[in-house]
Amino acid sequence: MYIISKKADLADYLKQCRLNHKTIGFVPTMGALHEGHLSLVQRSLSECDVTVVSVFVNPTQFNDKNDLQNYPRCVDKDCALLESVGCNAVFTPSVEEMYPEPDTRVFSFDGLDKVMEGEHRPGHFNGVAQVVSKLFDIVQPDKAFFGMKDFQQVAIIKNMVRQLRMGVQIIPCPIIREPDGLAKSSRNMLLTPEYRAVAPAIHKALYEATTMKDDLKPEQLCEWITKTIDATGLLQAEYVQIVDFDTLMPVSEFEGHHAIACIAVWAGKVRLIDNIEF
Ligand code: PAF
Repeated sequence: MYIISKKADLADYLKQCRLNHKTIGFVPTMGALHEGHLSLVQRSLSECDVTVVSVFVNPTQFNDKNDLQNYPRCVDKDCALLESVGCNAVFTPSVEEMYPEPDTRVFSFDGLDKVMEGEHRPGHFNGVAQVVSKLFDIVQPDKAFFGMKDFQQVAIIKNMVRQLRMGVQIIPCPIIREPDGLAKSSRNMLLTPEYRAVAPAIHKALYEATTMKDDLKPEQLCEWITKTIDATGLLQAEYVQIVDFDTLMPVSEFEGHHAIACIAVWAGKVRLIDNIEF
């Protein structure tokens, strides 16, 4: 497996791959890899000839300095994991390599960034679009693989790819969960044992909500989920919204919508997100 930190070296390697008519799969990550990421890599390996993974903690998508500082970093362990599953190349650029000068681009996503994560993390999705568009320009993948835990991110990246007419196919991949239902996330390793023990209540509440869809309206279900989460005494729901899968606009009825419930929860100082489709 190649470990490459310079854009020009990665471009050379990929040029050679393309000359050999290889298709290129790409998995962008911020490292601290877990089975969720590895499932994306495995999907790429099964659908593409060459798989490239980037490991880069992107400063422009953090709206909270402490969050950026505390974000787990373990690039050697990440590379060992990636090698063990058969990844072909890892791109590990420095901040200077990705941002030789400040990126001042401002994206617009047809309102998809005005709700949920976008509302609670101002500038987050603009930063995501900055780094993902740069990475797509460098890698020029045929397919890029993203986890559905970050459902809104997937919608926004698809929107960006459409607007910028990028020739990459975005492949959304299922959420991978711990045996107790907690969605796998790099942030889980920051949870204290006390918060880790109670965190499965997030998926449990979302799942139970799907069984009540015939009896309660979306708004009532959101209230029920919020109360259930807050009743744990440790977790605190930041938002719960049931939105249309395509427009991301809140729905008042389930009828006529492919709906998805999205949630952000504070587990002490750690912020967790999850979702479930109806
Ligand atoms: O989902 C993530 O880990 C990040 O937002 C991404 C897509 C790698 C961009 O930094």
